[in-house]
Amino acid sequence: MTYLPGFANHHATEAVAGALPIGRNSPQNTPFGLYAEQLSGTAFTAPRAENRRSWLYRLRPTANHPPFTPYTGAKHLRSAPFDEVPPSPNRMRWDPLPLPTEPTDWIDGLVSYGGNEGVGIHLYAATKDMDRAFFSADGELLIVSEYGRLLIDTELGRLDVPPLHVALIPRGVRFRIALPDGEARGYVLENYGALFRLPDLGPIGANGLANPRDFETPAAWFEDRDEPCEVVQKFGGGLWTTTLDHSPFDVVAWHGNLAPCRYDLARFNTINTVSFDHPDPSIFTVLTAPSDTPGTANCDFVIFPPRWMVADDTFRPPWFHRNVMSEFMGLIQGQYDAKEGGFAPGGASLHNQMNGHGPDQASYEKAVAADLKPHRIEGTMAFMFETRLPVRPTRWATETPTMQLDYDEVWSGFAKARLPQGDQE
Ligand SMILES: [Fe+2]
Repeated sequence: MTYLPGFANHHATEAVAGALPIGRNSPQNTPFGLYAEQLSGTAFTAPRAENRRSWLYRLRPTANHPPFTPYTGAKHLRSAPFDEVPPSPNRMRWDPLPLPTEPTDWIDGLVSYGGNEGVGIHLYAATKDMDRAFFSADGELLIVSEYGRLLIDTELGRLDVPPLHVALIPRGVRFRIALPDGEARGYVLENYGALFRLPDLGPIGANGLANPRDFETPAAWFEDRDEPCEVVQKFGGGLWTTTLDHSPFDVVAWHGNLAPCRYDLARFNTINTVSFDHPDPSIFTVLTAPSDTPGTANCDFVIFPPRWMVADDTFRPPWFHRNVMSEFMGLIQGQYDAKEGGFAPGGASLHNQMNGHGPDQASYEKAVAADLKPHRIEGTMAFMFETRLPVRPTRWATETPTMQLDYDEVWSGFAKARLPQGDQE
């Protein structure tokens, strides 16, 4: 597979020499009679710095399809407004999502845990290659690979996405996922809002966190197959299906700055304190989807990678906090430094807006007694989807036996602080 470096760069790529028109997006006669099609990821009139679109040159126009009819699979996939059950302030945590016992592809293996008007939060657990295509018209998809490699064929090229990598697939781009390991599990953030981008770096300077060139965009690739192919789309919260008489993966060349990409989380340049205290987790932001309130994201994608911990006179795990943003966390490998147990790879937790959380008691006891030598956290990768609105869980998420009904107890045993006797006024 061939990749082009850079986040939202203007790329130009062709799978057949001479397929890409030069100097015009929509010439009267395209090379080889390919059909020109614009894919818009932002409104036509979005400012230039925000504007995202690509031109696709394909064997047949996307418009060439029969009507879509309702699709009845993916029984556990939900969408905004996530009002099946009343929103709950309670902290929630789930054991790892089990792999399905029946052969299940990536579409039918999607399970929604919750969401709000800005995001949908899903996990997937799949045991079968997709032999069809899928796209979401509702939002772009950030796929966090936790277990089992994903080979994602998209209209704009092919992505190899092993665990500890993420893929970002624009709204509307059709894709098909094969599982070379036979099974796979991971997380999906469906972003209904403004597109994910790299965060500004402010005083950090020109380098650091996720560097733009490490986002890899596929070179053009296509298949010329005149065989039936089902296409399932998520639109307006519902699922729809149709069957083409040809492969939808027939884009021979494309150019533009709207394309899928992958990112290896091991390339994240982690910045942290070298003196004392615990910076806010925003220092670990990989991608941010802004809202119309500056600094207040519709969604931040934040990771907790292997790193040195060197702070002096500091409680090194995250202290107790209450956050105006809501936090959905997952674990890709190892152990998260604020929890000693119960939070396993493929599991999840939800700490909603303004509800207190922090280290469990075992982590607390360890951290206050720790000898604060430089210490390297190894073999771990947790992440957070942080969103400005409360996450409303789905009925499935509140009723599944994987939900840990005793989660509150991790904060139940803390001894009362000891004031000096006799000094109180
Ligand atoms: Fe938190």
